[in-house]
Amino acid sequence: MEEKIDLSNLPKHIAVIMDGNGRWAKKQGAMRIFGHHHGIRSVRDTVEACSEIGIKYLTLYTFSTENWNRPKLEVDGIMQLLVKTIRDEVPELHKNNVKLKSIGDKDQLPSRARRELDEAIEMTKDNTGLTLILALSYSGKWDIIQAVKSIAGEVKAGKMAVEDINETNFCEYLATEEAPDVDLLIRTGGDHRISNYLLWQSAYAELLFMDDIYWPEFRKEHLFNAVLTYQQRERRFGKTGDQVKST
Ligand code: FPP
Repeated sequence: MEEKIDLSNLPKHIAVIMDGNGRWAKKQGAMRIFGHHHGIRSVRDTVEACSEIGIKYLTLYTFSTENWNRPKLEVDGIMQLLVKTIRDEVPELHKNNVKLKSIGDKDQLPSRARRELDEAIEMTKDNTGLTLILALSYSGKWDIIQAVKSIAGEVKAGKMAVEDINETNFCEYLATEEAPDVDLLIRTGGDHRISNYLLWQSAYAELLFMDDIYWPEFRKEHLFNAVLTYQQRERRFGKTGDQVKST
């Protein structure tokens, strides 16, 4: 399947809503955290698959602003898993030239997780392969508000004029910084929602809901399949189909 992919028409930025860990665990009669643990194998597969075909940006919805409202036991479990995963996986990511980044309100994270994350980001900062962005304590509305606050600060300090604010420079203030807009947004688990993810950045993303799998079941073939589906879509960006075909 991998060989059917047109390498000249890859999505530059893939975003994933890794949903269904809890339901997958429940199906096995296990605690929800068991599902999150099994989700790590899927993360590894996804990162490897993206690296193999040359995707430039992959953003994973690892923990949303709203996820803080889950039971403490589950939140603590996910934070511990985050620390362990970074510790276990970063040497391999580094070896594979992956650059790690994060977006979100990092101040909300436990200090141990923040420290581990900062070290991994520093270690991989000069890598030139896939940029892997973990969305942690992230929400799209939070992102837009923090961008507006930064811009308001610049205007107040006389460094920017209100008339100069436009769609291009607004993006630079979003947490995703230089990353291009999302081309392909994948959600596993059966729900058809964006769930406050990359709201601005997904304005023209192709949405792909993979209804029949939970995140812990996601493997490389699913990623390749998703890219093939993306390549069959006609992206019109508001133009007509005829206009798109003639360019
Ligand atoms: C959604 O499934 C999943 C999460 C909120 C957490 C995702 C976290 C991981 C896969 C592990 C950590 C990952 C990294 C990269 C360190 P859900 O719990 O909402 O499932 P449900 O909809 O079945 O309840």
